[in-house]
Amino acid sequence: MFNKRHLIFYLFKFFPLILGGAGGKGVWGKLGSEIDETGDCRDVNDPNYDSDTQGDYKLVAIEPILNDEELEKAVKPILQEYLEHGNTIEESLYDLNIGGTNGHKIVKMAIQLGLDRHNNQRELISQLISDLYNNVLSGVDISSGFDDLLNSIDDLRLDTPDAPNLLGQFIARCIADDCLAPKFITNYKGKVENKYFKEALDKANVLITMKQGMAHLDNIWGVGGGNRPVKYLTNKMVALLKEYLSSEDKQEAMRCIIELEVPHFHHEVVYQACDIAIENSTEPVINQMVSLIKFLTVDTVVITLDQFEKGIKRICDDIHDISLDVPNAAFLLDQMCVKLREVRVIGDGLFQELSNKGRKRFVSEGDGGLMKPL
Ligand SMILES: *[C@@H]1O[C@H](CO)[C@@H](O)[C@H](O)[C@H]1NC(C)=O
Repeated sequence: MFNKRHLIFYLFKFFPLILGGAGGKGVWGKLGSEIDETGDCRDVNDPNYDSDTQGDYKLVAIEPILNDEELEKAVKPILQEYLEHGNTIEESLYDLNIGGTNGHKIVKMAIQLGLDRHNNQRELISQLISDLYNNVLSGVDISSGFDDLLNSIDDLRLDTPDAPNLLGQFIARCIADDCLAPKFITNYKGKVENKYFKEALDKANVLITMKQGMAHLDNIWGVGGGNRPVKYLTNKMVALLKEYLSSEDKQEAMRCIIELEVPHFHHEVVYQACDIAIENSTEPVINQMVSLIKFLTVDTVVITLDQFEKGIKRICDDIHDISLDVPNAAFLLDQMCVKLREVRVIGDGLFQELSNKGRKRFVSEGDGGLMKPL
């Protein structure tokens, strides 16, 4: 039987069809024609099944690009599925690199679903849009999706009286996630008549212009869990770390970090510092980052050990994904951990815990050789 995880995986593989972006008009088969409960498609339970190599779907030229109704029929179940199993969206959707003509409708549909759900599902919708941005959705898709929503605000209010407020929150979060430009709001200045349309824009504007507004929008739905900083912050952190690599000025890096006023997201600095070092893969850059982390944790305690621990554990957890780009990522991270232990950022207990994390994963995937013995 098709399990749900793979269903989502498959449906996202079909995103090009849904978006109508790939292959030209009328080339692709209708979504769903390849997947039915009889398992007409590839057997994902086959031990030889490897999702990474299943790129060649047997798509036949039968139907034109999905119309609105078909699109809704195809996409809604995917979104509903996602809302139930938020963490099961596969990497595959990040690989899709397509421009679609239906992108804005996906945005509209997703947010509309979010309007009549609870906050934790709204959070998932916000995350989904941010994840799909630059992969499946363009900035134009997102802004015209919101355009459509704002223009139907009167209809939306029939089902969800609070729609202007909620829409404003979605807009603000997208801006904080760097997938919608702030000028989206200002462009409307003086052009909007509808009271509720205006209310939504005002709400968004208040949220993003508040002191530290951007930084707190990760928690706009109250369920962020403090684990996922908005892109706005991540981008700032990456920028200051890269600046540090060329200036070698630790004081300046520290000043920039303090200026962000987000001590609860300092784990992201640790995460990004390791990520940048791994991506670079050279000894000098690894040493530079180790030295900065030591300065920020042990020497100045700008980053608390709690935050450090959270950051380093997060990157250990993601190392498999990172090694898709950098094949010896696990080895490099291991090297970093050894160096961090030498300078007493990592104690023996944590070191053991981190090695176990890495080792277990790689051994279980038959890839034990990647982690060099310490
Ligand atoms: C690594 O960093 C060094 C020094 O900043 C730079 O010259 C080099 O191009 C980087 N290498 C990669 C692969 O990013």
